[in-house]
Amino acid sequence: MNNAIARTTALLSTCAFLLAGCGGGGEPVAVTNSPNATTNNTATDTAATTGTLSGAIPIGIAVAQTSNVALLGQEQVAGAKLAEKYFNSKGGVNGTPIKLVFQDTSGDEAGTINAFQTLINKDKVIGIVGPTLSQQAFSAGPIAERAKVPVIGPSNTANNIPEIGDYIARVSAPVSIVAPNSVKAALKQNPQVKKVAVFYAQNDAFSKSETEIFQQTVKDQGLELVTVQKFQTSDTDFQSQATNAINLKPDLIIISGLAADGGNLVRQLRELGYKGLIVGGNGLNTSNILSVCKALCDGVLIAQAYSPEHPGEVNAAFRKAYTDEYKKEPPQFSAQAFAAVQVYVEALQALDKKSKVNKLQLPELRTELNKQILSGTYNTPLGEIGFTPIGEVVQKDFYVAQIKMEKDGSQGKFTFLK
Ligand code: ALA
Repeated sequence: MNNAIARTTALLSTCAFLLAGCGGGGEPVAVTNSPNATTNNTATDTAATTGTLSGAIPIGIAVAQTSNVALLGQEQVAGAKLAEKYFNSKGGVNGTPIKLVFQDTSGDEAGTINAFQTLINKDKVIGIVGPTLSQQAFSAGPIAERAKVPVIGPSNTANNIPEIGDYIARVSAPVSIVAPNSVKAALKQNPQVKKVAVFYAQNDAFSKSETEIFQQTVKDQGLELVTVQKFQTSDTDFQSQATNAINLKPDLIIISGLAADGGNLVRQLRELGYKGLIVGGNGLNTSNILSVCKALCDGVLIAQAYSPEHPGEVNAAFRKAYTDEYKKEPPQFSAQAFAAVQVYVEALQALDKKSKVNKLQLPELRTELNKQILSGTYNTPLGEIGFTPIGEVVQKDFYVAQIKMEKDGSQGKFTFLK
C-alpha cells in the first residue's frame, strides 16, 4: 500500500511539474461592448453579455490542468493548442484568428462550474470545449445550457451527455459504442474466456455508465460475470477487492475507472498473481498510466476512438505536429480535443459566410453557432464526424489497442490490433 501511494505521489508530482507550463490563455478578451450593452462581469450563470467580437475569436477550453484528472487533461491541452496553431496558420476563421482561453477545472465539479462561469461571463467566449470528465459535465453543462453557450465535450463518454441540453454536444463517442470492442478483442485473443470479474469506480458517472455497458456485453457474449467489485477514483489500495476477485478465478478482468486508480489497480492485480486478460476502459486510455503500472501494464486492452494511422490530410498534419513536439504517437484525448476545436473553427467559417461573425451580438452569435455546429460535417483526425440533432457524435471508425511494455517497464506504447 505504501508503495502504491509513493508511486501515485511520484506520478502526480511529475504531472504537476509537466503542467506548470500548460496554463493560462493570457490575452485580453476580444469582445467590445456595444453602447447599449448590458454588461455582466460577475461570475454568475445568468444572461450573457452583449457586444460584438473584435480581434481574435475566443474559444474556451475548460479541462483539468491540475489534480489526478490532469493525467487526461494535459493531453487535451496539447491537442487543443495544436489545433489553434494549425487552424490559425491556415487563416483561422476567414482571416480572423481564433484564441483559446484556458480555465483549469481541476478534477471536481466545483472547479468546473467556476471555469464555465468565468469563460461565459468574464472571458465572453463564443463556446467551450470541455470538461474532461462526464462527472463534471453533468454539473457544469446545465450552466452553459442556461446561458445558451455551445459546449463540445472532448472526452465525456457516459451515456446521456448530449441530453443535458440543446447547447451540449460532444466529439467523444459514448461508452455504448466504444466499450464492447475491447471485450470482443479479448475474446479473440483468448476464446477460452468464461469467467469475468468487473471493477468500477462508484463515485464517477462515466465509470458507472461504462460498467453497465461492459456488464451487458459480458452477458451478451454468453460469459459468466463472477463478481462486480467497487472502488473510488481516489483509492490507492485495491488489495481486498483484487483478492476477492482473484479467488473466483476469472480469466478476464474489466476495469472502469480513471488513470491513477486504474493504473494502480492493474498493478496490484498482477502483483497478487492474476495472469488472465485485462480490459481497461476509456479512463485508462492514456500513456500516463504506464508510469503507474510499469512492466505490469503489459497486455492491457483498451478500445480507441482514434488511430494515429487514420488516413487523410488533417490527421497527417496533426500526427506530425504532435510527434514533432512530444516524440510519441498522438493519443485519443489529444485527437478529440483537436477535433473539438476544429468543429468550432469550421462551424464559424460556415456561419461567417452567411452572416459576418464580428457583426453579430454575442448571444446571437452563440445561438447561431450552436445551430451551425450541429448541421455540419467535419473531416477531423478522428475521421469524418457529424452530429445527431441532439448533439451526439456520429463517427465511423473504432479500434482496439494493447499496451506493450519493455521488460524493465521503463517504456511502453499502445499497439493497435488488426
Ligand atoms: N471518458 C471519461 C469520462 O467521460 C474521461 O469521464
